Amino acid sequence: KQAESHILVIFGASGDLTKRKLIPALLELEKQNLLPDALAVLGVSRTNLSDREFRQRMTEFLGKNEDEKLVTKFLDRLFYQSISTSESYDYPVLKDRLLTIAKEKAIPENFIFYLSTPPQLYEIIPKNLASVDLNKSDDGFRRLIVEKPFGTDLNSAKELNKNLLNYFAENQIYRIDHYLGKESVQNLLVTRFSNGIFEPIWNHNFIHHVEITSAESLGVENRGGYYDHSGAMRDMVQNHLLQLVGMVAMEPPVVVEADAIRNEVLKVFQSLRPIKEEEVEKYVIRGQYIESHIKNELVKGYRQEEGVDPESRTETFLAMKFFIDNWRWAGVPFYIRTGKKLPTRVTEVVIHFKKTPHHLFGNQYNTEQTANQLVIRIQPDEGILLKFGMKVPGAGFRVQSVNMDFHYEDLADAQRLPAAYERLLLDCMQGDATLYSRGDAVEKAWEYVQPIMNAWQNNAEIPIYGYPAGTWGPDVADQLVEDGQWRYPCKNLSNDGTYCEL
Ligand code: BG6
Repeated sequence: KQAESHILVIFGASGDLTKRKLIPALLELEKQNLLPDALAVLGVSRTNLSDREFRQRMTEFLGKNEDEKLVTKFLDRLFYQSISTSESYDYPVLKDRLLTIAKEKAIPENFIFYLSTPPQLYEIIPKNLASVDLNKSDDGFRRLIVEKPFGTDLNSAKELNKNLLNYFAENQIYRIDHYLGKESVQNLLVTRFSNGIFEPIWNHNFIHHVEITSAESLGVENRGGYYDHSGAMRDMVQNHLLQLVGMVAMEPPVVVEADAIRNEVLKVFQSLRPIKEEEVEKYVIRGQYIESHIKNELVKGYRQEEGVDPESRTETFLAMKFFIDNWRWAGVPFYIRTGKKLPTRVTEVVIHFKKTPHHLFGNQYNTEQTANQLVIRIQPDEGILLKFGMKVPGAGFRVQSVNMDFHYEDLADAQRLPAAYERLLLDCMQGDATLYSRGDAVEKAWEYVQPIMNAWQNNAEIPIYGYPAGTWGPDVADQLVEDGQWRYPCKNLSNDGTYCEL
């Protein structure tokens, strides 16, 4: 499907996201000839810049060896308008500019507004757009892309949705969860629903437990001020990890369309068994990294990071156990874990299957009974691995676990995987919201995590464990997993010693 010509308006154009992610993603789409012929990108922010200066700034964030002709074509699409985004009196100026560009470039009046601004502006910008009728039109389309955070708790998320819906309809709103833009996350759906062999066993009869780990080796870097008010629950679990759970656990959608898929994700969230405040200590382990030495170098603890309260109780690590109370998943524990300053960067979904009912090759042959695992590596080295038992050659019947694996990089036509923002921007241009979060699901996810955050807030006795930077989090997180263990730390580290071999 070809995207219709339009103007993409980026609010917060002088910010980090624009230069690091959006502009490079747009250039990549240009390279692949996926942008509509008539597309203009209008950067908007308070800083005073001319179109030329804006183009100049953006070139610094394009790759060094790009084709010059292509870059010129791309830069010619960029424009800039300085306004005070919080003031309604500046919006007629914005509207005039949009109409002028549309006329000059023969672009129909189709507009996408991308809110890449601090979240405080999410209320005011839609309102101001509506004050000059830029929120709706009978002729062209009007779409609004909103970056996370969608609220900081259940109430603020509801408030935000209500406000957005005052000015834009739900089908005009595109809430970005960049995890859904990742190729390997979308492949979860294809793995499950295009293969006859997985779906029949994808349930409590055959699956023992499900594990999702999303580890980062970086700390909070220069985002201490933001992170200290957020923490792993708000930053990673409420959005990215629960979306992954949605993909792993949902029922087959009727069709591959935005609402069909998002209805199924919502149903998963509706089936999450609530964790009561008094159960939080048992099911949710939180940690915070403390000073340590990694490879003989002293690494700061979280409380010493810039912008962080020296007595902060914000979690930089979280591991939790929960259940999905529905027909498919009755009794199957889900374990999810995420953290900063862990030994490596890796995101994986691991389906742990049940062991065989009888251990035929047990005592007599001195082999441990292992279970099949399906490892879906989201990043890095994206791919899928199935672990199963095979006979050790020679006498007797000794069993060893071997791997059957697929790596994306081995695909002939997948030299590079598209970045999440490329896919998501293109989808929005084409009017496809399948990989965007819907308001009701976002609220449901907040509803689920809210009692946990309340318990932390209300009960100072619930521990937050220190873990030395560069380790796999507090030891107690290991005890969460009954009758099993996290895949990391693992025995088979890759050659560079960082992550488990696929
Ligand atoms: C962001 C969080 O949403 O996701 C960051 O705010 C986190 O703290 C990032 O580092 C992780 O994304 P990725 O794509 O690197 O796994």
